[in-house]
Amino acid sequence: NLPIAATNGIDNSPLQIFVKAKKKINDIFGEIEDYVKDTVDYMHEVQKEDHIVSQEIVRQIEEFVHKVHSIREVLARDHMKVAFFGRTSNGKSSVINAMLRDKILPSGIGHTTNCFLQVEGSTTEDPYLTLEGSNEQRAVESVGQLAHALCEEKLSESEMVRVHWPKNRCLLLRDDVVFVDSPGVDVTPNLDEWIDKHCLDADVFVLVANAESTLMVTEKNFFHKVSTKLSKPNIFILNNRWDASASEPEYLDQVRRQHQERAIDFLVKELGVCTPKEAEERIFFISAKEVLQARLAEQGHTALTPLTDGFQTRYFEFQDFERKFEECISKSAVKTKFEQHSQRGKFIANNLKELLEDLYNEASKLKEEKLYQRKELTDKINYTEQQLMIITQEMKKKIQNMVEDVEQRVSKALTE
Ligand code: GTP
Ligand code: MG
Repeated sequence: NLPIAATNGIDNSPLQIFVKAKKKINDIFGEIEDYVKDTVDYMHEVQKEDHIVSQEIVRQIEEFVHKVHSIREVLARDHMKVAFFGRTSNGKSSVINAMLRDKILPSGIGHTTNCFLQVEGSTTEDPYLTLEGSNEQRAVESVGQLAHALCEEKLSESEMVRVHWPKNRCLLLRDDVVFVDSPGVDVTPNLDEWIDKHCLDADVFVLVANAESTLMVTEKNFFHKVSTKLSKPNIFILNNRWDASASEPEYLDQVRRQHQERAIDFLVKELGVCTPKEAEERIFFISAKEVLQARLAEQGHTALTPLTDGFQTRYFEFQDFERKFEECISKSAVKTKFEQHSQRGKFIANNLKELLEDLYNEASKLKEEKLYQRKELTDKINYTEQQLMIITQEMKKKIQNMVEDVEQRVSKALTE
């Protein structure tokens, strides 16, 4: 029951770069695991028969089984993570809902996000919540109930609530994208704690700015902090509420140019995270509210509301953002997550190879020694045989001589 529009082009989604790479690297680790297990079985056999393999070597090889297994466990949990930041009410929760094509997160008046909310795919039929430090699954029936549950909990703003949403309801979640929503950066003095707790493993950051005002010091300050802790973070800037510009079309181009220039300056000159050309692909003018409304209507959940001027252009720009975002997050996650795994995989394979080579050399040496010992033994036997032959021949000769001597003497005695 995936949204019709979302099912188009499943296979050419840039997220597939990550999905396919994950499958491939998992298959490779599957092979390594089989290979290591076979080696352990073989070692146990060899150990029974002979004293070639020491207990220590077998232990070392057995350890690889655990290592490969734990890499596979981490790999299975690997995902692409995007975190949304910005001032209160700029539309962070609305952007996430628009991307997920559903009203998952509470937004709007009275629904201020008051803690970190992570939306991730689940294989269950129904959505549920888990709170930090607990595995207890709490049912979520509706957005209203989710918002209510979040208020009831009296959570601290840096705490994380995980929303497990059925994968079969959303392509992005199916493809292992995890969304992190945050309270407004203007409501907390704890930005450092936020970053340390929730941001260090994010592949992409989205700054949701308000197109009706200019980038604020608090928003900039947050990203300055992020870029001291992470080298070249991937940052997108969404100038949200761009639908407001429809009411003043005469200033539209001018306002857009001004926002664009300031945002480029921020990414390029202030943060130094990208080139001016790259920055142009990171800044978008959108309306999350409109996109969400259109997508809900498309799925028949709500009636289509009258469209504001320029809706189509803003909708296209949102789709353009989604595509660039998918490309960026997919490539970045492959690099940061799988590069480490493949390094460790190579390390394990090399270590195993070295151990087996040492073992092979040891065995060859042993074989040579045995052959040498056998040769020495054969030489000894040959020598003894020869000696025996010589001795026997001499004995024969002596006996012959003796017999001849006796014969002579006897015949001499007889003639005398
Ligand atoms: P906090 O969680 O309180 O920090 O806010 P938020 O950044 O998550 O904003 P939220 O998504 O809750 O949106 C705040 C209000 O702005 C809601 O009433 C939204 O409907 C509205 N809103 C969001 N995006 C847009 C937009 O593009 N245009 C307009 N006109 N309103 C929007
Ligand atoms: Mg919110």
